Amino acid sequence: MSRIAVIPGDGIGAEVTAEAVKVLRRAEEVFGLSLDLVDWDLGAERFLRTGVTITAEEMETLGRDYDAIFLGALGDPRVPGNEHARDILLGMRFQLDLYVNLRPIRLLDPSHSPLRGVRVEDIDMRIFRENTEGPYVGLGGVFKRGMPGEIAVEEDVNTRAGVERILRAAFEHALLAGRRSVTMADKANALRFAGSLWRRCFEEVGAEYPEVERRAVYVDALAMDLVLHPSRYDVIVTANLLGDILSDLAAGLVGGLGLAPSANLHPGRIGLFEPVHGSAPDIAGTGTANPFAAVLTAALMLDHLGEARAAGAIRGAVDASIREGETTPDLGGGLSTAAAGDRVCDHIRD
Ligand code: NAD
Ligand code: IPM
Ligand code: MN
Repeated sequence: MSRIAVIPGDGIGAEVTAEAVKVLRRAEEVFGLSLDLVDWDLGAERFLRTGVTITAEEMETLGRDYDAIFLGALGDPRVPGNEHARDILLGMRFQLDLYVNLRPIRLLDPSHSPLRGVRVEDIDMRIFRENTEGPYVGLGGVFKRGMPGEIAVEEDVNTRAGVERILRAAFEHALLAGRRSVTMADKANALRFAGSLWRRCFEEVGAEYPEVERRAVYVDALAMDLVLHPSRYDVIVTANLLGDILSDLAAGLVGGLGLAPSANLHPGRIGLFEPVHGSAPDIAGTGTANPFAAVLTAALMLDHLGEARAAGAIRGAVDASIREGETTPDLGGGLSTAAAGDRVCDHIRD
């Protein structure tokens, strides 16, 4: 029995989580799994109602009593400062020390890509985004707030231990998954100190994996080349902020955020699983959000829980839905979020 905390969250987060849960229930039936899914009321509603984002005790319980956490999305126009998402989402990443943000990007159907003449085998990458450092740590401050001379400082923190462990995770993955290359993206030509640390660590850690080809590239050039030659890329490893940007760009190459899953991991510990997308206030409540990113995220979670067969069947069911054109409007179909989730369930078989 796996114990899973489910945090539907805000906007379409709740809508797509309902479909992921449906699919998990169906996988339970078909594969005889036993999942204890426990709903957690964390998000903008609760914050606005009570003024509490997440308590220290809740954070501790999540880390101690669960095998995995499934999150829809956090973000609400009524919380413009995004305090609750920072405390809950970044809070879990930091406090549970989930240093690997794994974002697989795979083209499922050539018609989904805005690129001309691209084949499904051309786009299959894994982004390893560092998840506990960089400018996300909140070190900094503001001086003369609201005055003409206002100064805002947001420090970019890079530790040798932090850099080495995400690089090692990327190389380990490349080795175990039979991937040919690891590309590291940075901005070492402008950001000297962090850049030098990442480059030296990349050489040192990479040298332990002679079977895996390694390339260090500047992130601006990579952003362009991902669009021009996506087939050149396999495992990509990068810092927190750069990985955030590259993962949305890469999702755009394969059909958008409605298809992009992610896992926040610390090997051997609890994982946090969430689609890459946010709460999409522009379409929330319209019943048009694509649930596939959340469904594929559920498959990643089952992989993590050692249920590879069920995970594979879910991916196969999404492929089948796409083949049949049973998709939401972002992929050219006419189905609602719930109908698309139902069709995936129908396709799940052993
Ligand atoms: P977003 O990812 O919510 O949306 C970007 C665009 O993609 C929108 O046009 C949206 O309609 C579309 N989109 C996203 N997911 C989709 C889906 N499943 N199906 C169809 N279309 C989809 O990014 P944003 O608009 O910049 O942010 C909205 C809020 O979400 C903000 O508060 C932001 O901070 C938050 N956010 C949260 C997370 C998270 O919880 N992990 C991730 C990203 C953004
Ligand atoms: C993501 C999101 C978050 C991030 C936001 C909501 C803080 O964009 O998970 O990609 O920047 O990490
Ligand atoms: Mn993002």
